[in-house]
Amino acid sequence: MERLLTMFEEADPFATWWPTIAALTVGIVITVRTLMSGQRCPNDNQIKEQIVVVTGGNSGIGFEIAQALAGRGGRIILACRNLEAGKRAAAIIKRELGCRTPLNSLDEDDNPEDRYFVEARYLDLCSLRSVHHFAGQLMAEFERIDVLVNNAGVVFANTQMPTEDGFERHSQVNYLAPFLLTHLLLPHLQRSEQGRILFVSAHAHQGAKIDFDDPLNVGTWSVKFHAREAFAHSKLCVLLATRWMARELKGTSVTVNCCTPGLVRGTRHFRNSPLMSSLCVKAVTYPWMWLFMKNAYEGAQCAIRLATDPQLKEVTGEYFNDCEIAASSVTGQDKELAKKLYMQTIKTLESVTKLTVDREEYGLDLQLEMESELRLEEPAEAEPETETNQAADEKKWQGNGETKQP
Ligand SMILES: NC(=O)c1ccc[n+]([C@@H]2O[C@H](COP(=O)([O-])OP(=O)(O)OC[C@H]3O[C@@H](n4cnc5c(N)ncnc54)[C@H](OP(=O)(O)O)[C@@H]3O)[C@@H](O)[C@H]2O)c1
Repeated sequence: MERLLTMFEEADPFATWWPTIAALTVGIVITVRTLMSGQRCPNDNQIKEQIVVVTGGNSGIGFEIAQALAGRGGRIILACRNLEAGKRAAAIIKRELGCRTPLNSLDEDDNPEDRYFVEARYLDLCSLRSVHHFAGQLMAEFERIDVLVNNAGVVFANTQMPTEDGFERHSQVNYLAPFLLTHLLLPHLQRSEQGRILFVSAHAHQGAKIDFDDPLNVGTWSVKFHAREAFAHSKLCVLLATRWMARELKGTSVTVNCCTPGLVRGTRHFRNSPLMSSLCVKAVTYPWMWLFMKNAYEGAQCAIRLATDPQLKEVTGEYFNDCEIAASSVTGQDKELAKKLYMQTIKTLESVTKLTVDREEYGLDLQLEMESELRLEEPAEAEPETETNQAADEKKWQGNGETKQP
């Protein structure tokens, strides 16, 4: 022991460069990690009793958003395609929040977990029927919705395997289905004192290819797009639709914004990529991912701010990165393109799901001038319904307790 102490006393740290190199390396690593982890939500505002829907809330970034918002007093509905995973996530959130609840704030018989409302519901964005069903259920059960977080998304899905509605998977899961869900829930969001809609986009929108004459890329997707391109295109659509929808909702109590979580590790986002999900690649890239990418909690911060910050009450139609408004790609700011995409989307959804946007009821801007070919048509004079088409229609939209949309 004495020898060891003498060794330490006699050691001269400047006799070699190694201690300096080690200290510099640690300093650089800490600085890079801090910079790459992004900003934290700058407030801890409570959202007591607000009803919040988080799609894909059972894992990854959605789970962190749901947990943070439940901790702030929100009533959280996790919209998940795997209901069992959703229920497990809800139980974990309640248990973790319950453990953190200060004991002195509880009565003797209080179960801390019961203080938090987190529930899972079934929603598969690959099926527009499921979107209708989910929205109908929610509207029957709740009198309003305060926050809708369109978080669920896929990447590297098979572009050659369309959904049951005939759309390319990235296009439907990341854009079309959340768009439909948002429009179906609009009347309920408008009943909130300050309804907030959030879409999760991605940096990848910057590299997206889009055709001005066919912005939704309907019909051409299968031959044109690789999965990476399809993902980028869907996230650009999310951004453009956010921009135009904000204009449509001007003068209402509802705001709509989108954000990018940044590059996030430790989620299941890359599960469909054979390269990224291989154990070998994971092991080799882990140190770099740890250094340069956010974890799911860090990736959730921007959405948490958008859902809770009263300072953003009036902010709408913006793209956020690291909790602040950020510049999107030039294409992502193109108003004409945004308008065209928005109208094409509504028309497409109207044709496949009977979504009819009643502008008056939704409080959308009636003065808006639209291109004639993309005008939202008044619902045509109802044809006298024959017994056969009525039955077929009911079977399609009301089967399994589904709510028929106007
Ligand atoms: N991670 C990143 O680096 C990154 C970067 C940019 C943008 N984003 C975006 O951030 C969001 C969250 O991603 P994440 O990293 O948390 O990935 P994740 O762990 O894979 O979470 C995605 C969530 O979406 C759900 N989902 C997928 N397909 C669905 C469908 N058809 N119907 C309903 N839910 C569905 C998943 O459910 P299951 O668990 O059942 O599969 C999961 O809960 C996504 O929109 C993603 O595009 C992520």
